[in-house]
Amino acid sequence: MEIQILDKVFVPYILEEEIQTRLQTVAKQMMQDLGGETPVFTGVLNGSFMVLSDLMKYYENPCEISFVKMASYEGTQSTNEVKQLIGLDVDVTDKTVVIVEDIVDTGNTIEVLEQLFNRYKIKGLRIATLFFKPEAYTKQIKMDYVGFEITNKFIVGYGLDYNKQGRNLPAIYQIK
Ligand code: IMP
Ligand code: MG
Repeated sequence: MEIQILDKVFVPYILEEEIQTRLQTVAKQMMQDLGGETPVFTGVLNGSFMVLSDLMKYYENPCEISFVKMASYEGTQSTNEVKQLIGLDVDVTDKTVVIVEDIVDTGNTIEVLEQLFNRYKIKGLRIATLFFKPEAYTKQIKMDYVGFEITNKFIVGYGLDYNKQGRNLPAIYQIK
């Protein structure tokens, strides 16, 4: 069934059950890769609140969980925007950090996140994203865990918003 959010119409794209099934598979893979250590799963707010919450229910080994937000402030010159990481409330020293993103589109965000996390003395960095748009991606960084590769069309739901709305939808809808 079509839904309307503000001025746009969206059609069903990925069902709630498909997301959950995929998350179980990804969590199993993560347990095989990281089961011998205590990784720090770090969700990037706001979009990843739902995926990290559900993913962690399927990850049955010791782990720590944190959320961060990317913030930007103006640098010394008003034209240079400096990105910073706020909210990281666990000690990541010598630990594997798994960044959990809702979606990787151009890759700009993930590139900055990688630079910011590599300032810490971490053991390693892995990147997980529920959705990936290969046609839009412009970076070289490889993702370790991808839920779904999708076409380059705007989607909403399951944490992703259209003009702040639609994050609460349990399934994914694609712009009509
Ligand atoms: P980036 O282009 O990879 O840096 O992605 C930047 C941000 O754009 C993501 O974290 C999302 O918040 C947002 N975004 C990209 N594609 C979509 C989409 O299809 N729906 C909703 N938000 C999106
Ligand atoms: Mg995001």
